[in-house]
Amino acid sequence: MKQDMIVILDLGSTENTTIARQIRELGVYSEIHPHDITAEELNRLENVKGIVLNGGENRVVDGTAVDIDPALYDCGYPMIAFDHPTAKCARKQDTMPDDALLKEFVFDVCHAQANWNMKNFIEDQVELIRKQVGDRKVLLALSGGVDSSVVAAMLIKAIGKQLVCVHVNHGLMRKNESESVIEVFQNQLHANLIYVDATDRFLEKLQGVADPEEKRKIIGSEFIRVFEEEAGKLEGIEFLGQGTIYPDIIESGTKTAKMVKSHHNVGGLPEDLQFELVEPLKQLFKDEVRSCGVELGLPAGMVYRQPFPGPGLGVRCLGAITRERLEAVREADAILREEFEKAGLDKKVWQYFTVVPDFKSVGVKNNARCFEYMVIIRAINTIDAMSATIERVDWDVLQKITDRILAEVEHVNRVCYDMSPKPPATIEFE
Ligand code: XMP
Repeated sequence: MKQDMIVILDLGSTENTTIARQIRELGVYSEIHPHDITAEELNRLENVKGIVLNGGENRVVDGTAVDIDPALYDCGYPMIAFDHPTAKCARKQDTMPDDALLKEFVFDVCHAQANWNMKNFIEDQVELIRKQVGDRKVLLALSGGVDSSVVAAMLIKAIGKQLVCVHVNHGLMRKNESESVIEVFQNQLHANLIYVDATDRFLEKLQGVADPEEKRKIIGSEFIRVFEEEAGKLEGIEFLGQGTIYPDIIESGTKTAKMVKSHHNVGGLPEDLQFELVEPLKQLFKDEVRSCGVELGLPAGMVYRQPFPGPGLGVRCLGAITRERLEAVREADAILREEFEKAGLDKKVWQYFTVVPDFKSVGVKNNARCFEYMVIIRAINTIDAMSATIERVDWDVLQKITDRILAEVEHVNRVCYDMSPKPPATIEFE
């Protein structure tokens, strides 16, 4: 293994990730593990140089204070504890560690080398994946999103054709999205890729369904069904690759922190799929996942893309989805993205997209009355997607986009700009 590692044991602090990042900023790899890791599990981790016991406000779970396995104190690793009055260790701190203190612990006490970088991380993960998988096969649902793309690239590097990628096109993808998955993974990286065009099947299931939650449920469960069917056709698969990243684990609830929301990558697994998981990104933060993707040779456009909801354009084609309006939202979205890129706004604005409601308005085209749909443009900025403000897009850019949508997108006679912040509006409409 290339990298030294400091292990952070989660004893209920909300600051685990801050400390992990502080240590990584010192150039040393750090991983966060649950407080109940056993001495045996800890000893199985390679290149551990020291341990941070990180207690805090969530330390008491169901009325009892959680603690580590006492056997860990005998493993011989240097330890430091934060806000942890019972630790039998050299040091105790009640506050957040400052950089100088962490630096002293990491380098002078643990003698860790500052050898954390993406290249070494990838080499280490490749070694770990090969060790875990051997000559067996891994299945991966490749949506084309950042996380699944990066995990696919990592697995291809580690095990090549032993990875089977399944890309399900639910018909709610953005323009050219499935095509670019095929281009990058099949043509450039020579992945073992199964492409399933399930458009008709999804649109049939969604026909006449106007309720947003109902739509989301149908898309989610149909996705799992299609994936399971494909998995059922394959033989000898023992592992499931997952693009889980560290924030997914936190949001889905750790042993000390409460669940924020169940996450597709963590909570949405079909229970009867008896696979062992391969999750090489699960200790990374989003920006690190992106650098990892770049280091693995993925195109920047794939790695630095804006967030896109799992149910795709399904939640932007409002109400009951029709092919006509779905096509309109897809074409308008492509125009918006093209013009934002030309204006340099793609690097500035956090998320931008179009929406097509399910009602029409009166207009006039070629000197005759028309009754057609409208396109709503939304462009927002946010730090954490919990609240958001709108981007004040330049009037000329908006004009250009409007002209193009009205000229190029069928069945549309009106373009509006959504001025609403979150709250009270959410970022998506459904
Ligand atoms: P809202 O609409 O809740 O959106 O303000 C917050 C952020 O989450 C994205 N979003 C999703 N992402 N699966 C995802 O991976 C989903 O089902 C989903 N729904 C919303 C949304 O695009 C925004 O960035």
